[in-house]
Amino acid sequence: MEQITHSPEQTEAFGAEYAKTLVPGDVVAFSGDLGAGKTAFSRGVLHGLGYEGRVTSPTFAIANEYQTPGGAVVHFDLYRILDSEALFEIGFDEYLDGSRIVLIEWSENARDLLPAQYKTVHIAYGTDENDRIITCREVGA
Ligand SMILES: Nc1ncnc2c1ncn2[C@@H]1O[C@H](COP(=O)(O)OP(=O)(O)OP(=O)(O)O)[C@@H](O)[C@H]1O
Ligand SMILES: [Mg+2]
Repeated sequence: MEQITHSPEQTEAFGAEYAKTLVPGDVVAFSGDLGAGKTAFSRGVLHGLGYEGRVTSPTFAIANEYQTPGGAVVHFDLYRILDSEALFEIGFDEYLDGSRIVLIEWSENARDLLPAQYKTVHIAYGTDENDRIITCREVGA
């Protein structure tokens, strides 16, 4: 599934649409450059699941947890988590117990700890400044 968006609002709207496909236990691994729109897409996912509060980047908290009408969600930003020891320290593996929807920005840094089956969302810059090319796939399904 591929979509080109032209604004952060459009990326959020696509994230909200994508949220309809998610159930607890799903792991979504994001990739894409700094500022590509991973947090914007994640915000859309949370709003799509019915969460009405503010959704901010988990850059400093590393993990933000949400209770939504569509189920529990944890939103990671692993930009600064560079090795598996640091992942264990934040209890990363315990969040993958199937009870939540798991959104992972900078999932490259958790490559070795992803489950056998997961979803990927890649966001790339497009031609114009506000263009983004969003590609959604499933791995191991
Ligand atoms: N089509 C678009 N979709 C999403 N964001 C866009 C788009 N066009 C411009 N932007 C801008 O790009 C930025 C995306 O920021 P966002 O925090 O979502 O990226 P990120 O991939 O999470 O970055 P980081 O790697 O730092 O976590 C915002 O400043 C937003 O306004
Ligand atoms: Mg982000």
